[in-house]
Order: sequence, then C-alpha cells, then structure tokens
Amino acid sequence: MQLHLLNFLKNKSMEEYSWHKIAESEREILFNTNNIAMIQVNGKTMSLGRYRGYFFAFAYKCPHAGGILSDGWIDPKGNVVCPVHGYRFNMQNGRNVTGEGYNLKLWPVENRQDGMYVGIGEGLLSWL
Ligand code: FES
Repeated sequence: MQLHLLNFLKNKSMEEYSWHKIAESEREILFNTNNIAMIQVNGKTMSLGRYRGYFFAFAYKCPHAGGILSDGWIDPKGNVVCPVHGYRFNMQNGRNVTGEGYNLKLWPVENRQDGMYVGIGEGLLSWL
C-alpha cells in the first residue's frame, strides 16, 4: 500500500514541470560529432542527445562513476555509451541496458515552434 502511494506521488510530481528554453532552434545547439551536446538548464549542467530527429536530455555525469556522458557516443540502437567503462543507457527511459543496475536521470525535451525546451520537475518528490 505504501509503495502504491509513493509511486502515485512520484508520477504526480513527474507531471509538473517548469519548462526552460535552451535554444531558438536545433541549429543553435553545439552538438559534438557524437550528436551529444553539453547544455545548461536553469543552472544545471546536462547532456542533450540527438538520435533520428529526437532529442533526449540526460545527466551530465554517468551514474556509475561520474564519466562525462557528452564525451561518450550514441550506439546504433539509440543508447548513450559512457566513455569510461562503456555502460549503455537507454535515452528514453534511463535504463542501464548492459545490466549493471544503474539508472540514468532524464528530463523531458520539447521541440516547439518557438524553440527547444527542457522540463525540470517541480514536485516535492521530483528528485526521487
Ligand atoms: S563511469 Fe560510466 S560506465 Fe563507469
């Protein structure tokens, strides 16, 4: 019962975002040749991956041992690969697809007519 309540609160908090404009368009973002850019959103450093026309905001540092993910690469399946030990993470759900048991922190990205935005959760439990 308590687990259901916690999941409900987490889902509820995840619906509430403060949206931050990061660029007028994709062309303004300085992607590396690996299709990953380092971005600043409301004082927070993140990585922004580009894969098949979609954009994914995720943690700047790898959850394993702090490798800089914008120095990594995106594999043919759309997973970001950490340059330090090669762990792979699904950019859509944060799952560690190589099975080491870590989760990558993600933020939603919207490519709107007036620019690109990243959402930062505002709920009390958004840090979970
Ligand atoms: S620091 Fe990223 S896989 Fe080890």
